[in-house]
Amino acid sequence: MAMTSLERAEAAEHAMSQELDRIVVKSVIYTSGDRDPRQPLPPQQSQGRLYMMGHDPRLPLMPEKPTLFDFFKYRFGPSAHVLQSARLAKKNGVSEKIVLACLLHDISVMGFIRGDHGYWGAQLVEPYVDEEVSWAIRHHQVLRFFADESYGYKYPDSYIRLFGADYQPEPHIQEAYRRAREHKWYETCRLITVNDLYAFDPNVRVELEEFTDVVGRHFKQPKEGLGFDQSPSAHMWRTMNHPTKYL
Ligand SMILES: [Fe+2]
Ligand SMILES: [Fe+2]
Repeated sequence: MAMTSLERAEAAEHAMSQELDRIVVKSVIYTSGDRDPRQPLPPQQSQGRLYMMGHDPRLPLMPEKPTLFDFFKYRFGPSAHVLQSARLAKKNGVSEKIVLACLLHDISVMGFIRGDHGYWGAQLVEPYVDEEVSWAIRHHQVLRFFADESYGYKYPDSYIRLFGADYQPEPHIQEAYRRAREHKWYETCRLITVNDLYAFDPNVRVELEEFTDVVGRHFKQPKEGLGFDQSPSAHMWRTMNHPTKYL
């Protein structure tokens, strides 16, 4: 009987994990939907082999004390979008804190989890940035769904393409929006959305180093390295560093 594409993917993955000297078991959230999480995992040929408990050799090795830029270089997906957003923010003359917020606003999509990415992203950076920056990153999640003509922000055409013309934000998003509108940092967050553009010039390359000074001034890099400083989000950075750890 022919294999389904899921079975083929699982077989390829199994073959690949055989090449590693450690057994990799993926977290439920990485595969939920592709497979039904209630089903038991296929048995592993574990004889004599140990489970992954540290660095995954399929990924580039991170420095011992990783910085924010190390995550951009070694763990995040392409960063053109946030780099271009941050450059546009700078060009528009906003404060450095907002430039930083633009640079960081989608790091969860780039390196962690897409759904509710504004909330995850805010939590990742919360211990290291001004409260206003993490507040704005958290709420860009919802403000993106609501136009504000006074800032020249309209509902993104891309969302119509992506989610359909009849997509309506769920009630909890509507409520989060109502609350954000009343907040003293509404404008900070709105300025992320104003600079959150997807219409790029593909020929414009922005280097991370353009933001070395802004990050240096406004992101409190822990001396132990991100993930190893006992902060409330250190474990999230460790998970990005070592995404396949068994425990
Ligand atoms: Fe976003
Ligand atoms: Fe964005």
